[in-house]
Amino acid sequence: MDMDKLVSLCKRRGFIFPSSEIYGGINGFWDYGPLGVELKRNVKEAWWHDHVTSRDDMVGLDCSIIMNPKVWEASGHLGGFSDPMIDCRACKGRFRADQATAVVFALGSAEDPASKPRFFVVGGIGDRDDVLKANEKGIEKAKKANKTAAWPETSETIRLDDATIADDRYALIPCPACGQAGTITRPRSFNLMFKTYVGALEDDSSVAYLRPETAQGIFANFKNVVDTGRVKLPFGIAQTGKSFRNEINPRNFTFRSREFEQMEIEFFCRPDEAQEWYQYWRDYRFKWYTGLGLRSDRLRLRDHDSAELAFYSTATADIEYAFPFGVSELEGIAHRGDYDLSRHQQFSGKDLSYFDEERKERFIPHVIEPSAGADRAALAFLCEAFVEDEIGGEPRTVLKFHPRLAPVKAAVFPLVKRDGMPEIAQKIVADLKRKKINAFYDEKGAIGRRYRRQDEAGTPFCVTVDGQTLVDQTVTIRDRDSSKQRRVAVDSIVAAVDDLVDGVETFTTD
Ligand code: GAP
Repeated sequence: MDMDKLVSLCKRRGFIFPSSEIYGGINGFWDYGPLGVELKRNVKEAWWHDHVTSRDDMVGLDCSIIMNPKVWEASGHLGGFSDPMIDCRACKGRFRADQATAVVFALGSAEDPASKPRFFVVGGIGDRDDVLKANEKGIEKAKKANKTAAWPETSETIRLDDATIADDRYALIPCPACGQAGTITRPRSFNLMFKTYVGALEDDSSVAYLRPETAQGIFANFKNVVDTGRVKLPFGIAQTGKSFRNEINPRNFTFRSREFEQMEIEFFCRPDEAQEWYQYWRDYRFKWYTGLGLRSDRLRLRDHDSAELAFYSTATADIEYAFPFGVSELEGIAHRGDYDLSRHQQFSGKDLSYFDEERKERFIPHVIEPSAGADRAALAFLCEAFVEDEIGGEPRTVLKFHPRLAPVKAAVFPLVKRDGMPEIAQKIVADLKRKKINAFYDEKGAIGRRYRRQDEAGTPFCVTVDGQTLVDQTVTIRDRDSSKQRRVAVDSIVAAVDDLVDGVETFTTD
């Protein structure tokens, strides 16, 4: 799938726009248009329903974005939430050192193996394969130019966040953007939190931060939730909301943005039961994505190896999706032990232990954290849904969203603008909306073109009022994916659409 085509469809059909575009935009920020906002709301509502309202062991929370800065001291974000950054003195580009790679070819002479080797170095963003691919032509040219020298098959791969690279070697590395060598700085630590000031005075005492994750608001409220008496271990607290990170390289459309929404759960449990709950959430979260249409062969659960694990975590796994730009993280599920509650207990001086009535024991609960991004999930659902196929020999672009996620569930058309057909169609739209089913009325253009427009918007069902409606009070309902149609009584159309969207019924032809 071509990412550019998806980005262009999102713009054209009103899913996602660059933020403040009329002023030239702002890197790393995006706006959701009329269809996009419905898609993202449906993602969040499906998540909230499937994790909070449909369960007995979960409650919700909605915390403020700006919190007491001590929260970020305790969580470790003030000290450690940073990325290694490199700058180019020539082009002023700024990059994440841990995402940049250089490949060094030694141009040793075949005739004189003892001669001092010269080097040919290529660099760029991504891993070794990405860099070799992006520099294919240059490498070929260098191979030809050095035909008298043996071209070693072995070459050295350098990650630019490796602090042990010698100065003379570092000076050979080209800037990943402008390609000049000797112009990039050594990596420096860059804190990703957006800083602001609270109140009238802009001094050290008024510094605050936009939250870089929703999770800490949950830990900070753990005692409040337990004290309201509604919960008993094991239980989870869920929160959705905006988070902000001053990412060095926002990229891949909405995948890495500077303002984004998270859907996070902190699931509190007894220490000896935590591993079981970790397995449970790993599987549950994977199934949630496949249940909403992501193909399991495009998804994988990748366990972190010991080098990747945070020191307090006994296990963490990422759910990764094969995006068109590469396999990348959709969500992380972390076994965080008692780290967060212990840190907040230490920094706040408040007792955050829990008394287990059943076991007559007091302890700090352990935590399993499934942490997902609403924008990343919406992007994965868009990528998965995007299909170019043919209907009746005609090419079409269609977004095959799961009906629960589709921005509009049903479009209703009068075949022609006369004989009372528009009035019947408008009444069906009103009836659907009254049932909280998002419906759309369209009377413009040939019926085939109206279908195509809805296919591109991802609308799963189209209802058409035609001549036969006036005779027998039935309408056609068309299925987006198969383009099959059947007739349904006008009186039953709302129930029929409702059942199809809920999956109670699947589409069959007469
Ligand atoms: N509380 C844990 C936490 O925040 P994370 O892996 O940094 O963990 C969790 O973030 C999820 O939030 C990611 O898997 C991703 O879906 C989303 N996310 C993180 N940074 C993002 C960004 N810059 N743009 C869009 N989504 C992001």
